[in-house]
Amino acid sequence: MLRIAVIGGDGTGPEVVAEGLKVLKAVAGKVGFEYQTKSFDINGERYLAAGGDPSRATIPVIHDAEIAELGTFDAIYLGAVGHPKVAPGILEKGLLLNLRFTLDQYVNLRPVKLYPGVWTPLKDKTPEDIDLVVVRENTEGLYTGMGGIQYKGTGDEVATQIMCNTRMGVERAIRYAFEMCRRRKNPKKMVTLVGKTNVLTYAHDLWYRAFMEVGEEYSDIKKDYNHVDACCMWFVKNPEYYDVIVTCNMFGDIITDLGAMIQGGMGVAAGGNINPRGVSMFEPIGGSAPKYTGKGVINPIAAIAAMAMLLRETGTNKADASLVQAGDKVESAIMAVTPKLKSMSAGKMGCGTAEVGDMVAQAVSAS
Ligand code: IPM
Ligand code: MN
Repeated sequence: MLRIAVIGGDGTGPEVVAEGLKVLKAVAGKVGFEYQTKSFDINGERYLAAGGDPSRATIPVIHDAEIAELGTFDAIYLGAVGHPKVAPGILEKGLLLNLRFTLDQYVNLRPVKLYPGVWTPLKDKTPEDIDLVVVRENTEGLYTGMGGIQYKGTGDEVATQIMCNTRMGVERAIRYAFEMCRRRKNPKKMVTLVGKTNVLTYAHDLWYRAFMEVGEEYSDIKKDYNHVDACCMWFVKNPEYYDVIVTCNMFGDIITDLGAMIQGGMGVAAGGNINPRGVSMFEPIGGSAPKYTGKGVINPIAAIAAMAMLLRETGTNKADASLVQAGDKVESAIMAVTPKLKSMSAGKMGCGTAEVGDMVAQAVSAS
């Protein structure tokens, strides 16, 4: 029995999650597996209702007991975080970063794949050219919150934000990337380390050595290195160069927004926060889109793609072939539906949120 914790979250999160769950129902019937979902009311609205306020740190966005319970599921399916009345950073830190760190979801897996019929701003590039995956380290780097401010508000103020890299943390992300490369079976068979060894001469020296040493265990895979600034150029000029990219937390955050744009935008891009031996969390990369909330015009493809990833990755980590097959089926159904949509942008799809979900669910049932 597959047990999924569902956090609709804020804004359009619950609307897109509903479409992902619709497709889950269709594929479970088709492939024949049992599942259970439990919905968690964790969002900005609840935080505000409880009296949440940045100056009262005692009001948590998510309770310890909820985190403990989330940790007992097979996977978490998340809609969106972000509320216009909650100061930036509170929900992101309280929910998203909190769960990533507490559940040790040490890889952020972000495929950059142009689906058929989807418009890309890159001229002359086709689905054959845009198909790579970014393995972003997800629990270290500039995201640990180490550092501080001294002499605040004075002319002598000093602020530091420490980039923390452990050999263990770097190595496990790198190893995951090599394993992912083997799984993908892309003829390029190449892992590119993206870093900045010419400036981050301590932090990325560690990354580079770990990459080369772990890489020796994978003699079948080509090892490649790009500086992050050059990588941004190649994403635009020749994305077909890449197969698997592995990179640090902050660079991964930045290049995957660029990646989302070349694959057709936030309506399409999905990601997974992965703990291969624990509980992983899957989400559309886009935000809560407050201005579209409740209008039924938001694109649920990214959330449905996140469901496809949830099934495939959970199936892989639990060695359950039927879940992997289900994930692949959902992705094929998405690829059958994208050519029928006028656009991937909210309000311009040529139909509403629920119709897109219906179309993908039907494509699954018909497959
Ligand atoms: C992302 C987001 C988060 C991040 C924010 C909301 C903290 O941008 O998932 O990419 O920086 O990781
Ligand atoms: Mn981001």
